[in-house]
Amino acid sequence: MAITGASGALYAQRLLDNLDPTAHEIHVVISNYAHVVLAQELPEGLRLPPGVPTHGLKSMNVPFASGSNPFDAMVVIPCSMGTLGRIAHGFSEDVLLRAADVMLKERRKLILVPRETPLSLVHVRNFELLLLAGAILLPANPSFYTRPQTITGVVDTVVARVLDHLGVAHNLVARWQAEEEKH
Ligand SMILES: Cc1cc2nc3c(=O)[nH]c(=O)nc-3n(C[C@H](O)[C@H](O)[C@H](O)COP(=O)(O)O)c2cc1C
Repeated sequence: MAITGASGALYAQRLLDNLDPTAHEIHVVISNYAHVVLAQELPEGLRLPPGVPTHGLKSMNVPFASGSNPFDAMVVIPCSMGTLGRIAHGFSEDVLLRAADVMLKERRKLILVPRETPLSLVHVRNFELLLLAGAILLPANPSFYTRPQTITGVVDTVVARVLDHLGVAHNLVARWQAEEEKH
């Protein structure tokens, strides 16, 4: 899991809150700018599940920097347009970008949760490149049909979709059930 300097640190926190470190091997990489946004948006700091390590950007001495380690998935949440563009264009100069590059080349699951508005053509072209390369683009666009009552509830509508794509079972948000037709 990678956290970048886009707004939406709570998305990262809620994903961490809903991953079981005893069931999965989880690693966290935090970009330099993410520290600034985390301080602003989560003043009490990021809560990591027990035993989950964080890694600096510069050391490639991590298991997920090489395709020979079969990690199942990587989520960049929230994903800045800067990081998204660097991944789209194959920049691989730090651990976060290298790990994303590995996921794409090994055809493993790379889930990007971009947050930016409005979008420019540059962003959209980068989206297109990443989709063609096999990434899953899951924008931080909350939904409201389950009538979330708290900010966490709103955030969880996005985190639930991330968990769905990771294949992790959850009961975060009620699923849509069309009303049965009345005769
Ligand atoms: C408070 C704050 C909020 C930001 N929100 C966003 C955002 O929502 N989306 C985005 O793409 N960049 C956002 N940025 C800008 C990124 O932090 C900036 O482009 C940075 O270079 C991204 O670096 P990184 O991708 O290595 O984390 C924000 C910056 C700050 C300080």
